[in-house]
Amino acid sequence: MELIRTIAEAHDLVEKIRLSGRLIGLVPTMGALHRGHLLLVDEIRDHVDVIIMSIFVNPLQFGPNEDFDRYPRTLDSDVELAETVGVDYIFCPDVSEMYAGNVKTRVVVADLPNHLCGLSRPGHFDGVTTVVTKLINILKPHIAIFGQKDMQQAIIIQKMVKDLSLDVKIMTLPTVREVDGLAMSSRNNFLSEADRHEAVKLFQSLNFAKQMIVTGERDLFLIVEGIKNFITTGNSAEIDYIGLVDTETLEDLTELKDGSSVLIALAVKFGKTRLIDNLTIKIPVFEHVV
Ligand code: PAF
Repeated sequence: MELIRTIAEAHDLVEKIRLSGRLIGLVPTMGALHRGHLLLVDEIRDHVDVIIMSIFVNPLQFGPNEDFDRYPRTLDSDVELAETVGVDYIFCPDVSEMYAGNVKTRVVVADLPNHLCGLSRPGHFDGVTTVVTKLINILKPHIAIFGQKDMQQAIIIQKMVKDLSLDVKIMTLPTVREVDGLAMSSRNNFLSEADRHEAVKLFQSLNFAKQMIVTGERDLFLIVEGIKNFITTGNSAEIDYIGLVDTETLEDLTELKDGSSVLIALAVKFGKTRLIDNLTIKIPVFEHVV
């Protein structure tokens, strides 16, 4: 496996790969790899000939008071892990390489970032769409893969690729979870033992909400309150948001219609660590007996 640190090297490499007729798969990451990242590699492997993983902690997607500085940077162990799952190349540029000069351009998707995480992280998705566009331009993948834990990110990237007619297919992979259900995330490393114990309530609360919905609850307020109480009772967790939104537009739902789907997404802070999770639920159609 080879490390590629400059855009010029990456251009040469992908030109050779493409000229030889081989298909390139891109697994974009910010490093601190866990099993979720490795499963993205597993998932894309059958569809491509060469796998490039990018490892780049992208400053553009962090707000001024966010965790850019303390975000884990573990390149040596990431390289070892990536090698075990057959990654062929790691693209790991410095910030000064990726954003050389006084960068003034942003790729901005309208509307979709104005919900859920975008509300508490202004500018975050502009940073994501800008870096993902750059990665696609630099590495020219045939396929790129993203995890559904960041469902809003996956939806925004799919829309961006479609709107800009980018020549890449986007695949997504369902959230990979720890045995107790906690969604895998590089930020889980920051949790204290007590908070790690409590964090399992995120997924449990989503399943609790699912249970409410499949057994007939349609009152959005009661469902949100149910999730909130489930998570915060008996600990110091702080809810950032709980959203029941349209699975395409991400707009807040005003009612739950039988037979449609709802995306329940949430962000919760444990101390300084903010975790996200989501679940898409198909709302059952009830037979109305007359
Ligand atoms: O999901 C991530 O790890 C990042 O947002 C991504 C897609 C690698 C862009 O920096």
